[in-house]
Amino acid sequence: MNRPRVSTLVTGIAELVTNDPAAGAGPLGLVADAAVVVEDGAVAWTGSRRHAPAADARIDVGGRAVVPGFVDSHTHLVFAGDRAAEFEARMAGARYDGGGISATVAATRSASDDVLRGRLGGLVAELRGQGTTTVEVKSGYGLTVEDEARCLRLAAEVTPETTFLGAHVVPAEYAGRTEDYVALVTGPMLDACAPVARWIDVFCEPASAHAFDGAAARAVLEAGRARGLQLRVHANQLAPGPGVQLAVELGAASADHCTHLTDADVDALAGGTTVATLLPGAEFSTRSPYPDARRLLSAGVPVALATDCNPGSSFTTSMPFCIALAVREMGMTPVEALWAATAGGAAALRRPDVGHLGPGARADLAVLDAPSYRHLAYRPGVPLVRALLPDDSGRPADS
Ligand code: NIG
Ligand code: FE
Repeated sequence: MNRPRVSTLVTGIAELVTNDPAAGAGPLGLVADAAVVVEDGAVAWTGSRRHAPAADARIDVGGRAVVPGFVDSHTHLVFAGDRAAEFEARMAGARYDGGGISATVAATRSASDDVLRGRLGGLVAELRGQGTTTVEVKSGYGLTVEDEARCLRLAAEVTPETTFLGAHVVPAEYAGRTEDYVALVTGPMLDACAPVARWIDVFCEPASAHAFDGAAARAVLEAGRARGLQLRVHANQLAPGPGVQLAVELGAASADHCTHLTDADVDALAGGTTVATLLPGAEFSTRSPYPDARRLLSAGVPVALATDCNPGSSFTTSMPFCIALAVREMGMTPVEALWAATAGGAAALRRPDVGHLGPGARADLAVLDAPSYRHLAYRPGVPLVRALLPDDSGRPADS
């Protein structure tokens, strides 16, 4: 009987991004003419091909670049329907204020589990095809106890990074009764959702008539923390507000959007442990000014990039598209943007095992149909991710 193959040597890597400065040049830990040994699903060795150890099996990627699989730390993938007409109206000048979320809530509530599962699976396949190997998925289009728990159970079928976002907007049946809705979210809804969620999130945006102010956001986050959930916050997307400083004060892993920041917000992020997650797909799809990534990077704030994939403000599953936007529109270098889409996302999810290809990391290798990582921004809109190694045959996004 054949001995089971437990180690695989990957060769023909024109350029390897490890995100391990000890392994190679610069913050990306670049190695030219590289090889990687994968053993039992983890990276066992990286380095120059000339020094590669022997292994049980061998894969040659034919002179292509290999980067860590992308970590998409912010998505809303459980929903039914779409809002193409809302997008079209925005492109004709309408403003985004979160009001359209109610249309997706109605469609999601009336969809069967199988319909939602089918849509979710399709989106996960789409994002994997573009190199994403770790994905966070939020609820937030159910907004009843049963529908939020149902959406989180579906999300948990594809990823451990599940986020309870019952405080996405105040649903129509609670119009004018925000306090009652917050009591529902922090009471029975949290009871039903905490067992299937790792994270809790809130759309803290006093500038929107549909979302939550600082006091409500604090109540939601503190209730979630008391139930053992970790925190992330939709903050300062549409206007300056209390979200970013609240996220830092409460030790949230990430403040997401960060589009409208005061100097005090930047100082708070620089002095805290919260990652700033930038979502340029949202600015693209709402025709809004992009966040000032350079200001954050200059202040020493760790930055992540994510898609925010949702049917309203950013209906893209493509991390390469977000990298291209960050480089072209937000002043990030190709190095900074790739780091933010991999190691930055891992930091935003507090996942030391992904987002890099150092020894011991999960073996999530994305092979590009290009000789260098630079092509991710240099060739926008081109499907550059050729394969995920060592095995991309139907594995879910985060197993
Ligand atoms: O992150 N801002 C709040 N939530 C989403 C949009 C949701 C929607 O419009 O359906 C966001 O942009
Ligand atoms: Fe979002």
